[in-house]
Amino acid sequence: MKKWFTMMALALCALTLTACGGGAPAKSSGSSAPAPKNETTATDKKAADVSTGKRALVVYFSRAYENYNVGYIEKGNTRILAEMIAEATGADTFEIKPAKPYPKEYTPATELAKKEKNENARPEIVGTMPDVSKYDVIFLGYPIWWGDLPMPCYTFFDKVKLEGKTVAPFCTHEGSGLSGTDRYIADTTKAKVTEALEMKGATAQKNRGEAKKEVMDWLKKLGYGK
Ligand SMILES: Cc1cc2nc3c(=O)[nH]c(=O)nc-3n(C[C@H](O)[C@H](O)[C@H](O)COP(=O)(O)O)c2cc1C
Repeated sequence: MKKWFTMMALALCALTLTACGGGAPAKSSGSSAPAPKNETTATDKKAADVSTGKRALVVYFSRAYENYNVGYIEKGNTRILAEMIAEATGADTFEIKPAKPYPKEYTPATELAKKEKNENARPEIVGTMPDVSKYDVIFLGYPIWWGDLPMPCYTFFDKVKLEGKTVAPFCTHEGSGLSGTDRYIADTTKAKVTEALEMKGATAQKNRGEAKKEVMDWLKKLGYGK
């Protein structure tokens, strides 16, 4: 996590300087919109090329808007990988959505996330939770936040029992790697955790070809693919 902390400190300095120069992003944080509906979504397409006959669900948390190394993004980095996995395997998808969206600006988002982690909070999440008994494999995607999973993922673990299920974790980060989150998932949920995929968020966002290759290589190792 050291690497990200160093970069983070530098980024904070840069942000402060930009703000002083009047060049800070003008978009407002927070939203007064009602909590969105949220349900498991069946993938329209058939598995592109790596179906195994296993019933799979992709559960993911991802945050759009301002983020480290990528600027303002319309689609979160982890979500990009989640969609690739769902498309390749024909999996259904479920997004872990916080009832109160995180700030759109990067620094306030990091501050809130840090507070939640320190308090071991369980931020409310919306929607009808998926019935995981219908699935053989749960792909679980998340960004690394302060060397851990975002706390709404733990809210999900409280609500949806994954004990004994096969969970394949994938994460995006900016230098910290997995940070032991595969172990945190195993310890918290008592699921059978497979080899995980970790990727820099900027690669997922800006280099889709490379990202897809890494996703497909990982799926192959998990037994998907020809
Ligand atoms: C609140 C917050 C905390 C973060 N903490 C870390 C960290 O500890 N280590 C790291 O490498 N990157 C960290 N990052 C960077 C994200 O892991 C990275 O940008 C990720 O790709 C974001 O994925 P998303 O767009 O799906 O939310 C953090 C970003 C945010 C917003």
